Amino acid sequence: MEKNKEIVLSGIRPTGFLHLGNYFGALKNWARMQNEYECYFFIADWHSLTTHADTSGLKSMTRSLVSELIAGGLDPDKCTIYAQSDIPEIPELYLYLNMLAYKGELEKTVTFKDKVRQQPENINAGLLTYPVLQAADILIHRAHYVPVGKDQEQHIEMTRNFAERFNHRYGEIFPVPKAFSYSEDLVKILSLDGSGKMSKSEQQMNTIYLNDDDVLITKKIMKAKTDQGPVLANSKKPEYIQGLFTLLGLVSSHEILKKFEYDFNHCQIRYGDMKKQLAEDMIRFIKPIRERAAALQSDPVQIDKILTKGAEKARKSATATLLEVRKALGFRYL
Ligand code: TYM
Repeated sequence: MEKNKEIVLSGIRPTGFLHLGNYFGALKNWARMQNEYECYFFIADWHSLTTHADTSGLKSMTRSLVSELIAGGLDPDKCTIYAQSDIPEIPELYLYLNMLAYKGELEKTVTFKDKVRQQPENINAGLLTYPVLQAADILIHRAHYVPVGKDQEQHIEMTRNFAERFNHRYGEIFPVPKAFSYSEDLVKILSLDGSGKMSKSEQQMNTIYLNDDDVLITKKIMKAKTDQGPVLANSKKPEYIQGLFTLLGLVSSHEILKKFEYDFNHCQIRYGDMKKQLAEDMIRFIKPIRERAAALQSDPVQIDKILTKGAEKARKSATATLLEVRKALGFRYL
């Protein structure tokens, strides 16, 4: 790796298979960034404990996610891929950052409030300090850019605040990282019923996974929410219709997108035809990724090797940062 390349970090929780939101919000950017930056990408297995206490499937889920990430474009020779739990330096930094994070701001975090609603029986402290652990993931490599989807924007903003507070109090150790996307805005892929973002473990029929087979992809798309179509020319699209157009824009040709835009604007759209076209193009997009991932999954030893090598490189960077952090804090008794 060249010495002066800027540093990129991002992660994903092993709480389900990769879906279109993960691909277009994150992985697509990761695959491009690995050619331009020094990149660290990891599986956030500690984070998954905040919502999924059962760890019995964690190892196989982590392996299959790594396979999917590689099938979707990551190259372990160009970027560092590792599991969060292999980097014991992260929790030490998490501890220091926790002293700089205030209860009030953590309680106001949108993802925390969502989880309080979703799992009122398990509002654990890890859930409250989730953004602090995420900040430690990012700052442990002194990252400059964090390629994420729109839903993570607030967490990155909090990371920036924690980094600034640390630098202000103890000395300039951390670059203040930025959320990143090659597109103009951070991406948000909607669930197929238009009722919020597509997500890994909720509403599986409204989520398209990169390991869905062709029949299931078609079934999900044909069931996606639509309506009678607009009655006024050039109407604003309802969110659930906009969501389908967004997907069309991502996997279909420009001409096809334009045709259905025209039909919509002239009140002659036939959603059945549009969904059939979308299903066809989606299958063409997903199939090679699904097949590559399946081939990689048949060789778990190879995946484990990638994780071991990744952990070694990530620990090198993490150890160097932690040494600076300890120096800055004045913890050097040994
Ligand atoms: P996670 O596992 O929920 O999602 C992984 C990545 O996929 C993006 N994403 C989406 N983008 C657009 N539309 C969607 N519907 C959609 N759903 C998911 C997410 O924005 C994310 O980029 N907290 C993180 C994991 C994490 C992390 C980190 C990320 C832990 N530490 C440090 C970056 C840096 C999460 O839960 O992502």
